Amino acid sequence: MMPEDLIIVNRHGAFAEIVAEWVAAKIAETIASRRRCTLALAGGETPRPIYECLARPDSKQRIEWGRLEFYFGDERCVSPTDRDSNYRMAYESLLAKAPVAPEQVNRIEAERGDRDQAAAEYEARLPQRLDLLMLGMGTDGHTASLFPGSPALDEEKRRVLVVSGPKPPLWRITITPPVIAGARQILVLISGKEKAPMVAQAFQEPRNPKRIPIQLALQGTWILDASAAEELVRSGR
Ligand code: 6PG
Repeated sequence: MMPEDLIIVNRHGAFAEIVAEWVAAKIAETIASRRRCTLALAGGETPRPIYECLARPDSKQRIEWGRLEFYFGDERCVSPTDRDSNYRMAYESLLAKAPVAPEQVNRIEAERGDRDQAAAEYEARLPQRLDLLMLGMGTDGHTASLFPGSPALDEEKRRVLVVSGPKPPLWRITITPPVIAGARQILVLISGKEKAPMVAQAFQEPRNPKRIPIQLALQGTWILDASAAEELVRSGR
């Protein structure tokens, strides 16, 4: 199954810039129709250069920052100052550089001793439907902290859960499939050769998110760089 919208960025070095442009345009469109925009940021390392592009003076001026509300798709259970923290990555690359007030940022307080309580509180703050959900993908096909085979992939009611993953840090707090299904707009961003085999599998194999969680986002827009799209191009898809 191919995603509904697929963009392959062939120009070397242009991936972050093109994704940032797409995000800025989507934010503007959302604000034009809904007056505000709730945006969930992706974690991991792929988004860092994209967030840096969004914070550059040219795109910074185009975005109505005061109308944005930030959320996160997942967080590792570490302190927000830890190198593994998704919040720290987003803060350093974007939130500290853009005119964003602390009240606009809804962080997952995953460092708290009572993780279930932290998940429940974040769930209560998370809007019923996110305007824009950004997601990355791991080489095993996981997205947010929904890992292949995880019981969280069967969740139908809870929108945020504490999970343990195969990749350190062990404990994480993640959105669940209903949040992905309910998002008004999804952006999947994938770069790098090491992701190419899983991208090809996600598109070519029958839909089974329990095995390939990123297939939960096939209704979204996918932006890939040329190396992540390598096996698709090779197989003619
Ligand atoms: C996380 C993520 C996760 C991430 C992928 C890709 O907290 O780990 O949100 O789903 O997007 O693992 O990570 P990279 O961009 O670092 O490859």
